[in-house]
Amino acid sequence: MNDPRPIGIFDSGVGGTSIWKEIHRLLPLENTIYLSDSRNAPYGIKTQEKIIQLSIKNTEKLLKLDCKLIVVACNTATTNAIRILRSAYKTAIIGIEPAIKPAALKSANKAIGILATRGTLTSELFAQTSELYTRDINVIEVEGNGLVELIENGKKDADETKKLLLGLLDPMLKAKIDYLVLGCSHYPYLIPLLEEILPPEVKIIDSGEAVARQTKNILENNGLLNISKENTRTPEFYTNSDPQVLSDIIQAETYNYKVAEMDF
Ligand code: SIN
Repeated sequence: MNDPRPIGIFDSGVGGTSIWKEIHRLLPLENTIYLSDSRNAPYGIKTQEKIIQLSIKNTEKLLKLDCKLIVVACNTATTNAIRILRSAYKTAIIGIEPAIKPAALKSANKAIGILATRGTLTSELFAQTSELYTRDINVIEVEGNGLVELIENGKKDADETKKLLLGLLDPMLKAKIDYLVLGCSHYPYLIPLLEEILPPEVKIIDSGEAVARQTKNILENNGLLNISKENTRTPEFYTNSDPQVLSDIIQAETYNYKVAEMDF
């Protein structure tokens, strides 16, 4: 079986490219289309109704582009809208949730930090996962207010971003966390700054690799893999905002790609 149709990936902005990179690394033959809904970023402070509406809009755009599987590369959209998306569409839909389970299981100090958006931290799905795995763990949840906006404005390495992070991480450092869970697909772009701030014994976990593995399993199990190199096209990235920010964030890793503006 050979299915060259693209995998569709969407996020509230440029952050989900961190997930795209993991998918591309694991499945280099797969065609991909990425939608960056930067015009509507951040999702994390919006109502659940609005997040669902935006997630439906993005999913329908990707389905019109003939995607064989959808990856919701946004924690806020996953935790608030994935159940609705899965019940509305037949196409397989994969989401991204904060890696609470591995952090809770591995923490020797029994103290973990979770940095995520308000939309994720207040969602029912997040509450259920947290309740399941963190009963004997001190969980320090911090809303990363302002971080997505800084990354969307090309300031992932800026001094003001470091200053904001120092304040946000303070309660976690005081609680002596040994694992920091990144609960937003934008945040892996902050790892260089986080490593400057956190003591070396604090490990940072994000969910990108797990999402890529799950994508591979679903494609394999459903006969949807693209196995022929001749059918592999340049990865496509579309944004409804400034294409330069999207280009910059992908270029940092020197990929071959195509970036364009699109109204969606
Ligand atoms: C946001 O748009 O606020 C963040 C996206 C995410 O939660 O991954």
